[in-house]
Amino acid sequence: MTARDIVEKYIAFFEKKGHRRIPNAPLVPQNDPTTLFTSSGMQPLVPYLLGEEHPMGKKLVNVQNCFRAQDIDEVGDNRHTTFFRMLGNWSLGAYFKEEQLHFFWEFLTKELGLSKERLYVSIFNGYKGVPKDVGSHKVWKDLGLQEDHIFFYGADKNWWSRAGTPEQMPIGEIGGPDSEVFYDFGVLLHDLRYGKEKECDPNCDCGRFLEIGNSVFMQYQKQEDGSLKELSQRNVDFGGGVERLIAATEDQQDIFQTDLFGSMAQTIELLTNKKYEGNKKEMRIITDHFIASVFIISQGIIPSNKEQGYILRRLIRRGLDHFDKLGGADLTPILEKIVEQYKDTDKVLTDKFEEIKNTILEEQQRYNQTLQTAKHFIFKKYSPRGEAGKVGDELKGVTEISADDAFILYTTHGLSPTQIKSLGFVFNNQEFAEKMKAHQNISRAGAKKKFAGGLADHSEKTIMGHTATHLLHQALRDVLGNHVFQTGSNITSERIRFDFNYEKALTPDEIKKVENIVNEKILENLPVHFEMLPLKKAKEIGAIGLFDGKYEEKVKIYFIGPSTSSGRPYSAEFCGGPHVSFTSEIKSFRIIKQENIGKGVRRIYSKVGE
Ligand code: SER
Repeated sequence: MTARDIVEKYIAFFEKKGHRRIPNAPLVPQNDPTTLFTSSGMQPLVPYLLGEEHPMGKKLVNVQNCFRAQDIDEVGDNRHTTFFRMLGNWSLGAYFKEEQLHFFWEFLTKELGLSKERLYVSIFNGYKGVPKDVGSHKVWKDLGLQEDHIFFYGADKNWWSRAGTPEQMPIGEIGGPDSEVFYDFGVLLHDLRYGKEKECDPNCDCGRFLEIGNSVFMQYQKQEDGSLKELSQRNVDFGGGVERLIAATEDQQDIFQTDLFGSMAQTIELLTNKKYEGNKKEMRIITDHFIASVFIISQGIIPSNKEQGYILRRLIRRGLDHFDKLGGADLTPILEKIVEQYKDTDKVLTDKFEEIKNTILEEQQRYNQTLQTAKHFIFKKYSPRGEAGKVGDELKGVTEISADDAFILYTTHGLSPTQIKSLGFVFNNQEFAEKMKAHQNISRAGAKKKFAGGLADHSEKTIMGHTATHLLHQALRDVLGNHVFQTGSNITSERIRFDFNYEKALTPDEIKKVENIVNEKILENLPVHFEMLPLKKAKEIGAIGLFDGKYEEKVKIYFIGPSTSSGRPYSAEFCGGPHVSFTSEIKSFRIIKQENIGKGVRRIYSKVGE
């Protein structure tokens, strides 16, 4: 059964039961500043679950494109993806548990023809004030489920809200107990992994069971005093992943080998000359990350260092790391295959194919540039001639680098330890971890002497130049657009050298504008300060700079200017410091030269304090 067959069957089934189809909401929500992506079908329906009247009535159905960034590290097993399509049906205070569980059971067993013996269910076991869901238990029994196919779990497994368990729900958030259905592929995976001595149940992560649908009884709202209050109506919010339902209908325990994804793996096999068997994890990551990237770009997002653009950059670069590891180079056939697979349901991918392809290929170039710059740095240090030359050839001998240099690649080039290793460099992991720890401690203590980054020294003039680069970075974004970001910098007491991604030469007018903005900010005498922020928070406020979320829970963000009404000062940038205390200390700023250094990267030279 193809994805299209399943979607059509599901929609037709619920339309027959009196539901009206609502459109697929944009993957990047348009009027919701609290969230970066649509991650479930219910997200656009929150006001209606709270009681507002929906123009299409009380029974709704749809298929929704979803992206879950929080699952990025799970991708690689037999079932997780970041992008997926969710079938959804809702009752806005119309029907409740009994009808919902009957509907879904009928859909699974009659429409999809799944064997009842392969289906298991889980039910909410009760939690503070919210009773055990005996109602669902009765319905499942009436539908003929054996007791040994029914499992009760607590709020960590059988409670659904966008935030997680009742404790994790913010005030005003809605949620409720849920009942999930699992498909059983047999015991093989479990026995191979854990042996027969360990028990297996539907929530075991061995891969034997696959969750294929979740009926949430959306009934509660979190109150200020921490309690849960019943909503004015009892809702049903059902969600089921198309990709997983296909796996169940095919009895294929690896969703990356189903009709939907199988041909992607074959394309990757051809491009890399490697077999899926033995390279599953990499091929699954490549498949998922490029599908997600294609859909995100189709929504007008481009790679950057903030918000959706940052997630997109991470997906593309992570996908590239794995593709590269398998020896792949040309991405285009993968992108073409994705569009071919999804074009029936998402025509926008065909319409925007050139834009999508170019965005990914440009990011590939930019990433290569970063990697090249990093290699040059190592080459200069380790080559006997001590200068950059035929990098590729001369680097062959260099494999072991110092933890210090690995750390510089991390802090100044934004490369994670994994990426550094994928360049062929090995270093002492423990020393690196110690450096990371020390770096965090220094930052936390707010000590004045910091890792110098792109600073030649800590002289007064260099520090003035350093703060000026933050102003310059933001001013370039003001004038040229938010897709512009710093790719490198080098600051001496003589001059500032600043590199950034931009395709064209700046016009004299643009240069003037940038200069003027920086000088205005100097005249305004804005205060400069830093805060240690959780990485998530730093991204939320739109802090710029190269940082990879994995290695620091807290990052140091330098702010220039007081907080504005939008909550963000003029500049917010990830940085180790040091900086001047007030912008007037910079005195003046002048751009003296611009250069094209290739691959879409431009270089500006400027001076301060003249
Ligand atoms: N909201 C629930 C989920 O995302 C069911 O639709 O799983």
